[in-house]
Amino acid sequence: MLLFSSKKELIAHLATLKNTSTAVGLVPTMGALHKGHLSLIKKAISETKVVVISVFVNPTQFDNQDDLKNYPNTLDTDLETLKTVSEELIVFAPSVTELYSGNISSKEYDFDGLDTTMEGKFRSDHFLGVATVVEKLFSIVKPTKAYFGEKDFQQLLIIKKLVEKTNMPIKIIGCPIVREPHGLAMSSRNERLPKDLRDKASFIYETLLAAKEIFGTKSASNVMDWVINKFDKQPEFDLEYIKITDQDTLKPVKRKQKNTKYRAFIAVYANGVRLIDNIALN
Ligand code: PAJ
Repeated sequence: MLLFSSKKELIAHLATLKNTSTAVGLVPTMGALHKGHLSLIKKAISETKVVVISVFVNPTQFDNQDDLKNYPNTLDTDLETLKTVSEELIVFAPSVTELYSGNISSKEYDFDGLDTTMEGKFRSDHFLGVATVVEKLFSIVKPTKAYFGEKDFQQLLIIKKLVEKTNMPIKIIGCPIVREPHGLAMSSRNERLPKDLRDKASFIYETLLAAKEIFGTKSASNVMDWVINKFDKQPEFDLEYIKITDQDTLKPVKRKQKNTKYRAFIAVYANGVRLIDNIALN
């Protein structure tokens, strides 16, 4: 495994490996790696010859400075974890100064409204920060394919839109959500939950599964009301939003259409920890 913290050195190394037919896979992460991240890495290994994992806690995507401060920083453990997956991986872990070259700010983007709802609404400028760092990583690594989890489904759509709008020749691969045995979507933030609450948080996924069932016969607004009501009875969980949208446009559902895919999205606070999840409804 090779570890780079310098853009220049990574670019130079990749130049020695690449020829026009070498597929390069990129898996952007903020570290604190868990099985969700590893599923993306394994998919990249199965599809591309050279796999680069970036480990970078991106300051411009945090609207909450406490969240940034509390974000786990576990590079040594992450490197050990990555070694168990493959010895061939290339890890890119730059400093903030190295990646942002002294200008720690986000670019402006137009994502056709994908960024103004849900995570974009509740975490202001979050996606501008995500897109800024991902565009930087894309221009350094120039991957053939880049891998993102459906856990952050809105982020996945925004990255697809970024690639479309900037005409970058990169295929964005969405990967399914990996869950803990009782159903909670894996997340680096789960570590901050006390054990009993972490177990109880399976309630979030159970509610989404039930919502999916109900969506078969009820309207989107009926289902959302049902979820709100469920959470009202759960004092340990503070529902920030439940939204049912068209899966491609993230627009609210007026009346269900036959050939449209719908998805439910949820954000919940548990003991001050923000958890998100989503589920395909049809
Ligand atoms: P991070 O939260 O570290 O996630 C890195 C990638 O792993 C994302 O594509 C995310 O969707 C995916 N992922 C996380 N948990 C997952 C799970 N349980 N199942 C499947 N995939 C999962 O997302 C980010 O970092 C950042 O915003 C980033 C894209 C790296 C830009 O800074």
